[in-house]
Parts: sequence; C-alpha cells; structure tokens
Amino acid sequence: MTLPIQPDRFLSDLHTLRGFGAAGVGKGVSRRAYSADDLAARDWLAAQMADAGLAVQFDPVGNLFGLADGPSLLIGSHSDSQPEGGWLDGALGVVAGLEIARAARAAGGPAISVVSFQDEEGRFGVTTGSAIWGGALTLGDADRLTDYDGHSLGQARMALGDRAGGFVDPARFTGCLEMHIEQGPVLDRSGDRLGVVGDIVGIRDLRLSFHGEQNHAGTTPMALRKDAFQTLSRFNTLLNERFRNVVTPQTVWTIGHVDLHPNASSIVPGRASLSVQWRDGDRDRLDRMEQIVRDSAADAAAETGVEVRFGSRLGLDPVAMDARLAGHLADAAEAEAPGAWRRMPSGALHDATNVSRLMPVAMLFVPSIGGISHDFAEDTDEADLLTGLRALARAAVAAAER
Ligand code: GLV
Ligand code: MN
Ligand code: MN
Repeated sequence: MTLPIQPDRFLSDLHTLRGFGAAGVGKGVSRRAYSADDLAARDWLAAQMADAGLAVQFDPVGNLFGLADGPSLLIGSHSDSQPEGGWLDGALGVVAGLEIARAARAAGGPAISVVSFQDEEGRFGVTTGSAIWGGALTLGDADRLTDYDGHSLGQARMALGDRAGGFVDPARFTGCLEMHIEQGPVLDRSGDRLGVVGDIVGIRDLRLSFHGEQNHAGTTPMALRKDAFQTLSRFNTLLNERFRNVVTPQTVWTIGHVDLHPNASSIVPGRASLSVQWRDGDRDRLDRMEQIVRDSAADAAAETGVEVRFGSRLGLDPVAMDARLAGHLADAAEAEAPGAWRRMPSGALHDATNVSRLMPVAMLFVPSIGGISHDFAEDTDEADLLTGLRALARAAVAAAER
C-alpha cells in the first residue's frame, strides 16, 4: 500500500513551523526549549495533530505527543532548536511524522502517532526531554539542571502551565522511526540521497570551572597571577596532547561554551567556566577520555595555582538501531533512491538514542547542503526532503504490517 502523502502540505508546514523563531539569514531559526517561540510552535503543532484526528498530550517536560488509537508506530523528532539553528534540525522529523499520520488516517491505516520531544538541543541537558521519557534521567535530577544563564529546568518548565499532563505510556507504541538531516558532509559529498543509520555515537558533556584571582591587569606581575584564562589555555593544550594516544579519526571533542569573568580587557580573569564535550562510538574510550579530561583540568589548575571545580556531567552511551526497522528503511531507501543510499553511523545525538531503551527504533538521514548544521545556514534540497518523506512513509507501512 502507498500512503497518500501530500508533498506540498508537508513543505508548507515545514515553512510555517520555521516562522516560529525565524532568525538570522536564510532559513535560520532560534527556538530554544521553553521559550515563547518554542511554546507557540508546540501549540501550533498540537493543533495540527488534533486536526489530524490524533489525541494531543503534553507530558510534564513538554514532550508533545499526537496519539493514534490503540497500538501504533511512533514517528517524530524534536522542535526546539539551538540558539543559532536551522529550520530542519528536528523539525523535519516532526513534520514528516505529522504528514505520514495524516495520510495514514486518510487511507484508513496503519495507526501512526507523532512526537515532538523537548530540549533535544540541550539548553539544560543532552536530549533532555527524551532522556527523561526513556528513563536515562529522572525528572527530579533534570529539574536541577541549569542553562548558562542560571535558570533551572524546574523553573523553565513552569512555562508549560496547564498544558502539562502525565507521561505517555511507551507500551502503546510498537516501534519508532525518526527522520533527520544528516548534519554532516557524508551524503552531500558522496552524492547519496538517503542514509540509513546503523549506530548513534555516545556522548559525555562535562561542565567545569577554574577559580583564580581577579586583579589589575597593569599592576599584577606575571609571576604572581592566578589567571583563570591561562589555566583554561593550558588545559586545552594538555587535553589535545593526551587525547592523541586514545582517539580514532572518528572521535570528536569540543570546548563549545566559555564564560570568562569578568570578561574585561584590563582585568586578570578570576574565573573561567566552560563545557567540555566528547563523542565516540566506543563506551570504554569515552570513559578513558573522561579520566584524561579530569586529570588534565586538575594538572592545569595545579600548574597555574588555580582551583578547579567539576560540575554536572551528562552522558549517553552509543546505541545500535533496531535491525528489523533499519531493514525496512533500507528497503524503502532502495525503492525511492535506487543505488543512491548508504548505511552510516550518526555522529549527532538524537532522541532515538533514548527511545531505544523503550522500543525498537531506527533512523533515516537526508543530506545537509555543504554538511552545515547548528548554524542559520543549514539547509537541504526540497527534492531530498521529499525523497526522505516518501521513503519514511514506505518504511512506516512495512513496519506497521510487520
Ligand atoms: C544534537 O543536536 C547534537 O548535539 O548532536
Ligand atoms: Mn536534531
Ligand atoms: Mn541539533
């Protein structure tokens, strides 16, 4: 059976969703979890789900479900964005799920439910909403996580108001499919139109801070300084040297957030707060890297006479996608893009990692132009978006038929 998906409606919905938090150049978006734009986007999505005959349910974290009656296949992703994000990261998978659910209802089956998870982009954690639903993180622990402005998730989710209901029972779903942009250069460079994900890498994300001594930048002799930036700089050098013996060409690490206090040119900085994140497909390597991070921070601090404090450390282990569902995606990819698709790992994190604790899950990728994502410039050719939608719909029918 072929579902009567409507490509124009799907593309138009993607553009409408982009309108919530549209920012920057091109098709950029800034729609942080729990912001007014995020909640307005969720309300709009909820209305589309209701129009499609689905029962709308927000859970206590703001994960938004559109539920079909009885056992159903779940399709979706997330609709929050990075501070400077693109229009497709997450949104593509949610709107594709919505279109397939609508088409399936028009065709009299199969039963498809839709989800938009909350805070996949980690304003507070790492894939926070699905991590809570999947059981990797308790709501109590999550509530104490803070963003870089010091707001806690517990405070932020108050903005849900009376939207918030109970958690959705995962047992009602037979499995889950997530479509996403690749967010990397592999498909764009190979010319393949689709990617079927085999594994998703694991991640560790640690916050730490160096505490030195704030002082006058003109009068404080170099030998007497406790300069938190110099400690940070030394830490980065040690890290890159020591990782060399442990990492593979696929391993990645990033110091993506730095807050220097008080951040003024004539003051020796007294405090540097930062995030260190590393990703790899091997759990043991992630653990060995963590020891190197902690040792390097301690050594850099000791060498420069500064104190180090370690903060929250979040992580998700690498996971494999379900072979049966990935097989349906592979068959669908071959049907929609014969000879022009590949199996590949995901270096980006996805809600699918957390959902895999609850039910079989698999993922489909479409190319990212120039391999750019987590930037306003992120984009994908419309033809590729539609190839992905058709393949996902095909796989959904096969998965629901078993
Ligand atoms: C999710 O966007 C990630 O950081 O991989
Ligand atoms: Mn995403
Ligand atoms: Mn992302």
